[in-house]
Formats: sequence, structure tokens, C-alpha cells
Amino acid sequence: MRVNGVDTVLALEPRVSLLDALRDRLGMTGTKKGCDQGACGACTVLVDGTRIVACLTLAVQCEGREITTVEGIDHPLQRAFVAHDGFQCGYCTPGQLCSALGMLQEYGAGAPSVVTEDLAHGPAALSDEEIRERMSGNLCRCGAYNGIVAAIRDVAEQSGAEGVRGRSA
Ligand code: FES
Ligand code: FES
Repeated sequence: MRVNGVDTVLALEPRVSLLDALRDRLGMTGTKKGCDQGACGACTVLVDGTRIVACLTLAVQCEGREITTVEGIDHPLQRAFVAHDGFQCGYCTPGQLCSALGMLQEYGAGAPSVVTEDLAHGPAALSDEEIRERMSGNLCRCGAYNGIVAAIRDVAEQSGAEGVRGRSA
């Protein structure tokens, strides 16, 4: 697979999760293990641009895929998280960042969420309610949610709705 732009060859047992492959075999400990059962979002990474929880993904499922972890991200979201106090201990932050990136791409592609009123045409705007719902898979034990939402709103507004939509591949 390709990890953060680098072709990477691993020989693994089929039972090894993508999370353990990243952390234990590649030494990429930016991706965090919170629950190891798909409940917290701390392990969120992007696979071919789509956010997934790495603890519930087998590494062998990612053969030939493009993996992006927090180590491979250089995005205004990171500076916005700092500016808006979008973290306290930081444990959930790598997953929050990867999830926010994936979320912005999903929004840009017009994907609705459960709080989107117009399912036929997608969300009219990336409201705080939309952000909170779309980020609801990422828990923060420190409760930095207000800062996280503000950071994402800031980046979305700077890009403009059209800019966010235009970023979708
Ligand atoms: Fe994967 Fe919690 S560690 S969802
Ligand atoms: Fe501590 Fe989110 S910043 S868990």
C-alpha cells in the first residue's frame, strides 16, 4: 500500500488491523488507539480519501490503497485547531483532523447527513449542526467540541462553500 505518499510493503498475518500495522509495524504512532472497537474515532485515517476507523479495518484490505494519516497532513485545519483551542490532551486530535478532512470532502460532494433537510439537493450550508452531526463519530474526552466545531467552521468559511465543494475529488 501507499502510506502518506510512500510505497510500503508489509508481510502481515490476515488478522492484523490497519491501526496496528501503522502503529506497531510502521512506527506511525500519530494514529491513536482509543477503544479498538470502532466507538471513539481516535484511529480515523483516510483510505483513498475516505475516512475510516483503522481499528476495524484489516491491513490486508488496504492492499494497493492510498493511506493518509495525520503524519501526512499539511492543511489549514491544523492551524485552525490551534487557533481555536480545538484540543486539550490531544489524544483524539489526529482522528479529529483526518475525520474533518474526510467530512469536508463528503460535504463538498453534496453528501447529506441525518440533519440535512433537503436530501435531494444536499445541505444548503455547513452549519454548526451539520458539523456536529458529521463529526459525531469522533469523541473527545476533554470536551473540546466547541473549539473543534469553530476550527472546522473557520476553514470552511475561508474556503467558501464553493471552495469546499470544489475540493472534492
Ligand atoms: Fe478505533 Fe476507537 S480506536 S474507533
Ligand atoms: Fe483530549 Fe480530545 S483533546 S480527548
